[in-house]
Amino acid sequence: MKVLVFGSLNVDHVYQVDHFVQPGETMASLKLNLFCGGKGLNQSIALARTGLETYHAGAVGAGDSDMLMETLEAAGVHTEYIRKKEGPSGHAIIQTTPEGENSILLYGGANQSLTREDVELVLGHFGEGDVLVLQNEINLIPYIMEKAKSRGMKIVLNPSPADESILSLPLGAVDYLILNEVEGGAISGIAESDDEKILQKLMKSLPDTRIVLTLGKRGAVYGYEDMVRRQAIYPVKTVDTTAAGDTFTGFFMGSILRGDCVEEALRMASKAAALAVSRSGASASIPTWREVEEFE
Ligand code: RIB
Repeated sequence: MKVLVFGSLNVDHVYQVDHFVQPGETMASLKLNLFCGGKGLNQSIALARTGLETYHAGAVGAGDSDMLMETLEAAGVHTEYIRKKEGPSGHAIIQTTPEGENSILLYGGANQSLTREDVELVLGHFGEGDVLVLQNEINLIPYIMEKAKSRGMKIVLNPSPADESILSLPLGAVDYLILNEVEGGAISGIAESDDEKILQKLMKSLPDTRIVLTLGKRGAVYGYEDMVRRQAIYPVKTVDTTAAGDTFTGFFMGSILRGDCVEEALRMASKAAALAVSRSGASASIPTWREVEEFE
């Protein structure tokens, strides 16, 4: 079994600030760090850290991609399906506060330049029993899902960040839907604070899909058929929440695909996310499998 993450690669410009800049305000930041990120890249690294054979597909700018490629390769992720394109790679402008909250502004760049031919060339290398992991930061997602399904791949979707496009995705084709309350609220049409109702509605409307709803400080909940399992967070001092969701997704799926039960996968994912939250940066904050195993 091979895991293919078809997703974004971003250079994250992370500015430490006292508070998020307000409309009309000009404000000096306290510090700038550059990290490798993008929900796709982060999830590839998290999956590779669980020991799975992980391939990343997507697009970067030919002139500014060294850092992104090197970071994936250093984590053991296969990079031969990443296309180099004219123009810049994707990037994110991220503000982080002393409380560890963030706000993220995305520029899609090469992430939004995929063609149908790019998709077909990549998926030609994958088939029955392989697993496709998607987020919502590249173009052509419905096409990728349709082609992957027709090749017999399992589909894991993290529809993040939420925008109108997620409402028209062929969600019935998804095997694992991993989403937060905002995304769950948008897809189910239910107010985002009512996680039980969101879960029940998603389970009813997507009976073939395993649902994992992440709830921030209230943990996560899994639902499929008549099984519902809740998982609390592991409390840590929050330094930076960037990529906590990506770490959760990568470790949850990694654990499941290694053969663990749902309860164990939820535990590993929550521990991994806690470790990520206690560190700065996106991919730089993702722990190793051993660190997660040893974390109490
Ligand atoms: O989920 C965190 C990621 O969101 C960041 O790395 C940023 O690049 C955006 O894609």
